Amino acid sequence: MSKALELKKIHEHWFTNCKCELRKTAIQPVPGDGNPEAKIVFIGEAPGKSEDAQGIPFVGAAGKFLAEMLEAIHLKREDIYITNIVKYRPPNNRDPLPEEKDACREWLLEELNCINPLLIVFLGRHSMNDFFPLETISNVHGKLLIKKFNKINTKHFLPLYHPAAALYNGSMRETLMQDFKKIPKILEKINNTPTRSEIF
Ligand code: URA
Repeated sequence: MSKALELKKIHEHWFTNCKCELRKTAIQPVPGDGNPEAKIVFIGEAPGKSEDAQGIPFVGAAGKFLAEMLEAIHLKREDIYITNIVKYRPPNNRDPLPEEKDACREWLLEELNCINPLLIVFLGRHSMNDFFPLETISNVHGKLLIKKFNKINTKHFLPLYHPAAALYNGSMRETLMQDFKKIPKILEKINNTPTRSEIF
């Protein structure tokens, strides 16, 4: 089965079976979007108003800024896959609750296992803390984290500030852009890291 078809089936399954309470207030679910063969997956927090209206992640102001940053490293949205830890909009864009993250986690893990990217980029502390609960975004933004988890194959993670937080904050915006520009070199480094089967 192609990854595109597998992803379609994953989303269809969770459209019916996700137990997240936010589905009662959201207009619709917002599944991940982009290239099923992507080498990089970006993970945000939760859909906002525009995403809830369109059913597509990162289509509002934060998404436009993200597209600008992608362009700066010669990538387009069609080259990457982008998703959120929580698939439904929280009322008034409040922070997602732990139980809402829990209810959407299996959906996210299935997306990640289908795509199996070389690099996962966390957009903001919510997605980073879901995988690295003890880190703070101010300490680790722009630093490559390497860790083997039981439930996914990907071992390389790059935490970044959330584009929405950086949008109207000049210095955070500059830091985010500088961190973002590290992505091509990081990918090159991962690509050149020998796998176990090549070492032995
Ligand atoms: N912010 C997010 O974290 N996700 C979106 O999809 C849009 C804005």
